[in-house]
Amino acid sequence: MKILGISGSPRKEGQSGTYTLVKTVLENSGCDYELISLRGKRIAGCIACLGCVKDNVCKVDDDMAGLREKIVAADGYVFGAPNYYSTINATMHAFLERWFQFRHQTGDTLWGKVAVTVGVGGTAGQAPAEEMEKFLLYNFVETVAKVAGQGAASCYSCGYGETCQVGIPVMLHGPEVRITAEMIPDVAKQPGLIDQAAAAGLLLGQRLRAGNDRQKTAQAMQARLMAKFGEAV
Ligand SMILES: Cc1cc2nc3c(=O)[nH]c(=O)nc-3n(C[C@H](O)[C@H](O)[C@H](O)COP(=O)(O)O)c2cc1C
Repeated sequence: MKILGISGSPRKEGQSGTYTLVKTVLENSGCDYELISLRGKRIAGCIACLGCVKDNVCKVDDDMAGLREKIVAADGYVFGAPNYYSTINATMHAFLERWFQFRHQTGDTLWGKVAVTVGVGGTAGQAPAEEMEKFLLYNFVETVAKVAGQGAASCYSCGYGETCQVGIPVMLHGPEVRITAEMIPDVAKQPGLIDQAAAAGLLLGQRLRAGNDRQKTAQAMQARLMAKFGEAV
């Protein structure tokens, strides 16, 4: 059983709460895994060229091409994204838009697989975790757990954090804020959050080891997606 982990944060591994949490989920799965950061990767959004409709292979020539086989080969996924403007960041959005290549005709390459989503925000990470769940549902991939946490907003280290009226330190601690190292949220120092990520990893691993019935999972996800469309009408 192999899990593909993707961190959508553009920050360096050691500075990214998303990367840390995705890694924690993977480490606790008990499965083989590969963790890839999208930092520095060149991945454009879908350009609706329809070059993928015949064979489910995207024809855009960028770093997504090298990820395609890994996506197809994996039995499960752990996807993490930072919260940018209450949704996923653009890099993760582009990465997931390009999954359009798997959605045509016999698009069952990914159907019925299972995933965990991870969101990290300067205030909260729920929104990106839920957004990725929605993207995965379009490929009938079930999100078995979502992990959401608070990471270090760059406002703490930009140099203007104590005076910037729209920065997170002032928003969270008030206009008299004096920034201290202890004040800066670090996902690795939040035991409840690490436990949440570990539990999500364990659940994903258990689900895979129990023999995920992909056909059954895909049918359940198809019904869920249809119900979602029904709500929107
Ligand atoms: C362009 C931009 C927009 C952001 N918007 C939000 C936001 O709407 N809500 C929030 O909670 N944090 C927001 N943040 C803060 C990041 O989510 C926060 O720094 C988080 O720790 C990033 O995850 P990372 O450490 O994995 O990069 C924003 C950061 C940037 C750079």
